[in-house]
Amino acid sequence: MKALVFEDVHHPVRFSEVAVPKLNEGEVWVDVMAAALNHRDVWITKGLYPGLQPGVVLGSDACVLYEGKQYLINPNVNWGPDPRVGGKSYSILGMPTHGTFCEKMAIAKDRLVPKPEHLSSVQAAAMPLGGLTAFRALMKKGKCTSKDRVCINGIGGGVALIVMQFALAAGAEVWVTSSSDEKISKAKDLGAVGGQNYRHDGWHKALQSQSGGFDIIIDSAGGPGFNNLLKIANPGARIVTYGGSAGAIEKLSPQILFWKQLEIHGTTMGNDQEFLEMVEFVDQHKIVPVLDRIYSLEEGPQAFARMDQGSQFGKIVFEI
Ligand SMILES: NC(=O)c1ccc[n+]([C@@H]2O[C@H](COP(=O)([O-])OP(=O)(O)OC[C@H]3O[C@@H](n4cnc5c(N)ncnc54)[C@H](OP(=O)(O)O)[C@@H]3O)[C@@H](O)[C@H]2O)c1
Repeated sequence: MKALVFEDVHHPVRFSEVAVPKLNEGEVWVDVMAAALNHRDVWITKGLYPGLQPGVVLGSDACVLYEGKQYLINPNVNWGPDPRVGGKSYSILGMPTHGTFCEKMAIAKDRLVPKPEHLSSVQAAAMPLGGLTAFRALMKKGKCTSKDRVCINGIGGGVALIVMQFALAAGAEVWVTSSSDEKISKAKDLGAVGGQNYRHDGWHKALQSQSGGFDIIIDSAGGPGFNNLLKIANPGARIVTYGGSAGAIEKLSPQILFWKQLEIHGTTMGNDQEFLEMVEFVDQHKIVPVLDRIYSLEEGPQAFARMDQGSQFGKIVFEI
């Protein structure tokens, strides 16, 4: 069968013929209908991920066909006993275990969750990893309600856009930032009240005065700009981070942190129960993920390059 394989660090992902994997205990074969790209896949090809193994089929997200029915794949592998945090043997599908960028995969049967009917297979494939991360970040760590004003930093991100859709579904007021005025405008079309370009000096002051400050801030960048997020936080706000795309957080001000009684939460993925709750939430609110472009597996290197350049708005999906 055809698959997108991690060849080695700094090599483009390889479209090649691989053997259909053998079944381990508890696993079934499924046909992959669509699979979505996450920034994790790009970090892997750059060597910015632990435990890399050449020859592994990449990909954490998919909608699959099993015995005539369509399912989402829960990308958690061995979350473990503590609902707060994945255990020592926790990993995410697609490194070090074979992932979803292939035609047929062997997957533990308990990873299959019925696809919400309102989603096409391509839409459903865009949801698992990003939806799970977004759900825990916004709903569990951020405790989002309809009374909250939410700022999403870097709205062009695949996870960020799902966070926005979940926040809007929860009835919250949403504002965004982006490196692109066009992406801010697209976010407003989807329901955001407004936004600021984080590349412009003083963006945080403008956003603060426009919005009145934020009860929840969701971030995947970190980096030197993180301090500005503390400045636009309302007293008692929750700041939730799930990524470090812009590097280390520098010169964090303890005074702002303690004086405003802020909470900073780190979050990664979510446990299996939260995955089920996320799919239920998507079903209940009939949420449809924003798609950027759809590629074939053969076009893998182009899809990876598009994500690496940050040109996308929404999820990049492979239709298989
Ligand atoms: N912990 C977890 O469980 C988890 C799960 C998923 C992802 N992540 C991490 O979260 C990050 C985003 O992942 P993704 O898949 O959503 O990636 P993505 O679709 O490639 O999104 C990246 C977005 O980050 C925004 N960004 C980049 N630099 C920024 C900066 N300096 N300030 C504010 N925003 C900035 C950009 O938004 P604009 O285009 O609007 O400028 C960009 O589009 C990655 O670092 C990824 O590894 C972590």
